[in-house]
Amino acid sequence: MEAYYKRKVETMPRIGMALMLALLGRLLSAQDAPQHDTLLASPSEYEGWKRYHLYCDRCHGQDAMGTTFAPDLRRSIAADGLVTREIFVQVVRDGRAANGMPAFGTLLRDEQIAQIYDYVKARSDGRLVRGRPHRPTAP
Ligand code: HEC
Repeated sequence: MEAYYKRKVETMPRIGMALMLALLGRLLSAQDAPQHDTLLASPSEYEGWKRYHLYCDRCHGQDAMGTTFAPDLRRSIAADGLVTREIFVQVVRDGRAANGMPAFGTLLRDEQIAQIYDYVKARSDGRLVRGRPHRPTAP
């Protein structure tokens, strides 16, 4: 009986040590794994995000997630959605006043609307995650 307890006490630190090593291994391999920066935006996506944030997110939701008032634009422009890049630019330029979508044609040039599209597309494709994106830093 005594021998049994003795063995048990001796093996416990060994198990502890094995666990520590396993954890350490995981930590090190996580550091070696290539890091995919999910908030890294292209210059166009970044410009688009800024304007989306300023003009669209009060209705279409933070991070382009949609609200109860206005549609989730990630879905509108997805492969099975109805909104192409051309339709996107046109709807934003001319609005759909009767349905609560204002016209931005006097505020935004087509090129700027296309940048907003690029940002929403990156969100729709899942390349950009929620949150504040950033530009690549200069090499
Ligand atoms: C005042 C609220 C409001 C603002 C601000 C707003 N929208 Fe909208 N938007 C709407 C509503 C409501 C609809 C749905 C219109 C409809 O049902 O036809 C809509 C529809 C759209 C559509 C068509 C989506 C689809 O599935 O048919 C696009 C594209 C769009 N908005 C883009 C934008 C962009 C880009 C901005 C910022 C520049 C913006 N909207 C700002 C309320 C808004």
